[in-house]
Amino acid sequence: MTTTKAADAAPDILSPEFAEDPYRFYRVLRDEYPVLYHEATNSFLISRFEDCANAFRNPDFSSRNYEWQLEPIHGRTILQMEGTEHSRHRALLNPFFRGKGLERFMPVIMENATRLIDDVVRRAGQELVDGIAKTGRADLVEDFSTWFPINVMVDMLGLPKSDHDRFHKWYQSIMAHLNNLAGDPEITARAEQTRQELRDYMLPIIAERRDGDGDDLLTRLCRAEVDGHQMSDEEIKAFVSLLLVAGGETTDKATANMIRNLIDHPDQLEAVRKDRSLVDNAIAETLRHSGPVHMIMRQTETDVELHGTTIPRGSTCIMMLSAANRDDRQFADPDEFNIFREDLDVAKAFSGAANHVQFILGRHFCVGSLLARREMQTALNLVLDQLHDLRYQEGFTPTETGLYTRSVPELLVEFTPAKP
Ligand code: HEM
Repeated sequence: MTTTKAADAAPDILSPEFAEDPYRFYRVLRDEYPVLYHEATNSFLISRFEDCANAFRNPDFSSRNYEWQLEPIHGRTILQMEGTEHSRHRALLNPFFRGKGLERFMPVIMENATRLIDDVVRRAGQELVDGIAKTGRADLVEDFSTWFPINVMVDMLGLPKSDHDRFHKWYQSIMAHLNNLAGDPEITARAEQTRQELRDYMLPIIAERRDGDGDDLLTRLCRAEVDGHQMSDEEIKAFVSLLLVAGGETTDKATANMIRNLIDHPDQLEAVRKDRSLVDNAIAETLRHSGPVHMIMRQTETDVELHGTTIPRGSTCIMMLSAANRDDRQFADPDEFNIFREDLDVAKAFSGAANHVQFILGRHFCVGSLLARREMQTALNLVLDQLHDLRYQEGFTPTETGLYTRSVPELLVEFTPAKP
């Protein structure tokens, strides 16, 4: 058996230089080390578009890694299921997140975005009135994007609005835990407490909704059946916990990166403001160019041969989605943010036939891609309508942070509030 060991000159994904700017190292990985054994994480890095896309469709790469990666936090979820169990869960979820099922939740999405943006505008208006600032100011991450997808989820589930704060706290605790590479014991303890609190909160509500006739997502999940099977209480609780991360962190960070990308390209911001049919282009290009999910893991179920390297059975592979999405074998000038690019298929960008891999491809393709698109469309349209002359606050430069997921943690902007 041959395995390639990390060459001395190969980029180290745990180095500070990589954390500062992973993109220049992605190029080196793709061109020189398309399959690289990384000793510190005991895993194989896979960085080219075609290799990632093929792996997601190949059962030799399973998602059993989630048994140790996420099960301790959420419980057993769809992410780690395969075969019939996975198809049954997808069949239970799909009706709520696609087509008419999703459209029924549009008012919830709209109402939440409007409420949050209205707050931003109202505070800005108040500042104007108070003479504190000549323009409206906000941190669009803290004031908007970290709240929006979580509040939508809480409302879709039919849980009280008064619990928005509580879910937001749980969300931040789980996120901190997932990004706790340094192993801070306080963060681990808080995540353990969150797991317990969410369980104590959810289980009695799930028991109640089993007999309910409400129209909310939770009641419908409690009552839905495929082939005579229902999701168990523990599975529903685990799914809600997963949604905080799968649907929360991703959309939060994608929204922040999209607004950053547009402010950084004022001509493109202006083009989208004038022609709203370009909103989907801005979303899709953000997912390709600066999608929040940089890495996900897979596990090999058999020895796999790739570019002359044997990846032994049972190995952890890190699939580098953001490296793949900037592969110049797939996209011309891949480091350029360009909503007009012709090689990104915007019409298919939110479906399993996409030609980027931010939602991956194959059987675990993101269930929530259309919900994410709806949320980002709503967010962008409101920002364009309500926050005129959008620009950074003086002296502020956005800086991306994060390894597995990455985004701008602050977005300090100034704007002229739209007239009421
Ligand atoms: C821009 C936003 C989003 C991005 C970039 C994103 C990305 C992803 C990725 C990469 C996966 C594959 C994970 C893996 O197999 O290891 C995934 C799966 C999933 N996503 Fe999303 N997601 C987004 C929004 C959402 C939303 C809003 C929901 C809410 C329903 C959601 C729910 C899920 C679920 C349940 C899965 C598991 C599907 C399965 O295993 O069959 N996602 N997503």
